[in-house]
Amino acid sequence: MTEASRVAVVTGGASVIGRKTVDRLVADDWNVLVADFNGIAGEALLAEFDGERAARIDFVPTDVFDEAQVEAAVTRAVDRFGGLDAMVNNAGVGGAFGPITEVEVEDWGYTFAVVTRGVFLGTKHAARVMKAAGRGGAIVNTASLAGISGGAGPQAYSAAKAGVINFTRAVAVELAPHRIRVNSVSPGFIRTPILGSGAKHMEKLLGGVQPWPEVGEPSDVASVIVFLLGADSGFVTGESINVDGGVTAAGPGSATPSEAIRLLEDSSASRADRPDRSPSSGTASQRPRGRREGAAAAGLPPHTGRRPRTVARLPGAPRRRPRPHPCGGVRGPGHHRSCGRTAGRPRPPGRPTAARHRP
Ligand SMILES: NC(=O)c1ccc[n+]([C@@H]2O[C@H](COP(=O)([O-])OP(=O)(O)OC[C@H]3O[C@@H](n4cnc5c(N)ncnc54)[C@H](O)[C@@H]3O)[C@@H](O)[C@H]2O)c1
Repeated sequence: MTEASRVAVVTGGASVIGRKTVDRLVADDWNVLVADFNGIAGEALLAEFDGERAARIDFVPTDVFDEAQVEAAVTRAVDRFGGLDAMVNNAGVGGAFGPITEVEVEDWGYTFAVVTRGVFLGTKHAARVMKAAGRGGAIVNTASLAGISGGAGPQAYSAAKAGVINFTRAVAVELAPHRIRVNSVSPGFIRTPILGSGAKHMEKLLGGVQPWPEVGEPSDVASVIVFLLGADSGFVTGESINVDGGVTAAGPGSATPSEAIRLLEDSSASRADRPDRSPSSGTASQRPRGRREGAAAAGLPPHTGRRPRTVARLPGAPRRRPRPHPCGGVRGPGHHRSCGRTAGRPRPPGRPTAARHRP
């Protein structure tokens, strides 16, 4: 395979950081398959590539939680472009948030399902193909500043991202003999489209936390991802690179990251709560507006607003991910499909149940 026909799969490639990474890779002559849960944004992305570039981009709706879908995305990249050189496990959600005493087990599990299990599945199937082809490869996982500190994100998200960082190291050691490099990037406070002209205000608020004067751009993260995929980082593996304007280097300052996040959420929420009257453009227009976007402006993914006992989700996605039941069926809100047992928690004694367990 020539340098000009390298192949990458990018999960979560339909939005912000993933999208910038896709743009950079295509500009550098890579063939790219975007695997993202958001079909509308994915199709819109495809429509933006024309001429010769259209031949080098593909999109397949993919839930990174689902092993069959991840495997299918990798297979499609190989079938369409003739191999696999790089995997970017970038899809992420803010996940569960609120006081720890109120976080639901399902929401905690959902966070790990997307953030950590998604990275595991992407790595597993990319490595399988790369090992079989025997020509090496590169995997980059998007972690977060929240994965290395206690004040930069909700508990579940922080724990899941910490898992991504050390999973990356462990797999890097295992795959090094196969010349497959595995690294992670940890973005800090990154500008998202909703921030718009509020960026200056955000930079002022960040003063006590981040040494660099401006907030990070999605392209700042994308360029590090692209570097880690390319030959210029050929001897770098098992690394985690912080893209955070010096936040980690500064250590404890005049304000903690969580103070800054609270300030930023409060300041940007009022902007974001207003109805969007701007002309529709790009992926930002396809994303939900509201308090979640305020959190996005705070350097977190756009689903981390402070609302207790809830979980981030995409528009149209089920509120709770269906969970496997011991009988092998799937349970969700309401009736249990396979064994007929009522779904949900055990009810207190004496309270009638909506349906009886069938033997
Ligand atoms: N934006 C930041 O400031 C920031 C900071 C630290 C880390 N990160 C991390 O960077 C990555 C990208 O963040 P972003 O800011 O571009 O967020 P984003 O929400 O704009 O993009 C995330 C993408 O992942 C996709 N996605 C979500 N769940 C999915 C699933 N189950 N299967 C497949 N795709 C799914 C979404 O559709 C979306 O396109 C995430 O992993 C995030 O945690 C972002």
